[in-house]
Amino acid sequence: MPNLVISLPRPAMHLLKGGAGALLLGGAALATPQVLAEEIAIACGAGDSSDYCPALAQQWADKTGNSVKVISTPNDGTEKLSLYQQLLGSQSSDIDVMLVDIVWPGLLDDHLVDLSEYLPADATEGFFPALVDNNTIDGRLVAMPWYTDAGVLYYRKDLLEKYGHEVPKTWRELTETATEIQAAEREAGNDDFWGFSFQGRAYEGLTCNALEWVASHGGGTIVDGEGEVTIDNPQAAAALDLAASWVGTIAPEGALNHTEEETRGIFQSGNALFLRNWPYVWSLANGEGSEVAGKIGMASLPHGPEGEAKATLGGWNVAVSRYSEHPALAADLAAYITAEPQQKAHAVKMGRNPTIESLYQDEDVLASNPSMNDLYETLTNGVPRPASVTGDAYARVSNAFFNRTHQVLSGELDGAGAVQQLSRELERLGRRGW
Ligand code: GLC
Repeated sequence: MPNLVISLPRPAMHLLKGGAGALLLGGAALATPQVLAEEIAIACGAGDSSDYCPALAQQWADKTGNSVKVISTPNDGTEKLSLYQQLLGSQSSDIDVMLVDIVWPGLLDDHLVDLSEYLPADATEGFFPALVDNNTIDGRLVAMPWYTDAGVLYYRKDLLEKYGHEVPKTWRELTETATEIQAAEREAGNDDFWGFSFQGRAYEGLTCNALEWVASHGGGTIVDGEGEVTIDNPQAAAALDLAASWVGTIAPEGALNHTEEETRGIFQSGNALFLRNWPYVWSLANGEGSEVAGKIGMASLPHGPEGEAKATLGGWNVAVSRYSEHPALAADLAAYITAEPQQKAHAVKMGRNPTIESLYQDEDVLASNPSMNDLYETLTNGVPRPASVTGDAYARVSNAFFNRTHQVLSGELDGAGAVQQLSRELERLGRRGW
């Protein structure tokens, strides 16, 4: 017999906060005369092999006797955000639950429910406090942390060994090693081989890549913790110029239109020496059907002459739309997806980094992914995008940054011109305070 959930009118649900309402957590079975199964619509990822959201949503449905309608969304985070903004802007009830990027709570909070009204008081216990803080806007918990991310460098262990090179510590070394090995591999007949693959499309992912280039050159974080625009500096300009020099030399021209999945494709089919991406690539690139399984390593990203390695912090959260007609059930689904057993499975099966601290000591998690320990370090030292400080202006800040950066990559602007122009644009955006 399928598990059942109580259906209560919304105001009554509020009264049950932290009390009987909590019994819904994880789809607990309650036999009652008033039973109503609902369909909950959830906006997941792209529905591809890297997206575990549809499977978890279905598990929840099977457990609770409700049904789920899984809506796939574009891989490109910037496109995903505009889709959400359209739906939420029109107060549509078409989506109940949605995946929310770590940089979006301050942009979308007005449209999201306060989950603490539906979940028990200890719902966020054991989660990284910084992530809970990130998702708490004006005292409202607008999303449950699901997994966390940090930019890493993947490399072909076999090729570095073959040509007698170390894993590069600086961007300069990466450039030199990539140039040499690319030439040699092409000479050996692999015409499609590239030295370095990264995400260069004009979207949020480029903001992540370029923040790493800039911050690891000692060029700051675009806008600092006090809200000061800091991007106009020579280290930032040099970082962007160096990245521009890769396009068409060690990276394909196509990099200007690549998101995470295209770059994973290049690396996984054996056509790149180095790849900048997120930790999820590890298990897929070592999995069945991958040309490079067992031949790869993962390391910290390189740094510039005056900097230290910096990894942009990323990650995804699960939120409930304010326009949902079933907010209590939707919150239950959000809690199910982010609960410990599901996070553990996500880590073990797909190498996603948990947002529950104790899972970093879990034997099964550690055994499944030898770099989980190192990643913990990377995550705790990661560099956040200036989303909290710029609040609801963040999308404009990021758009300005990735658009100017894209112009540098495509040769329309030089680094110095770009950071100067960007600085003026950002000053204007933040003129009256963020
Ligand atoms: C990853 C990160 C996310 C980031 C996105 C950019 O999904 O987790 O935070 O915004 O990549 O493409």
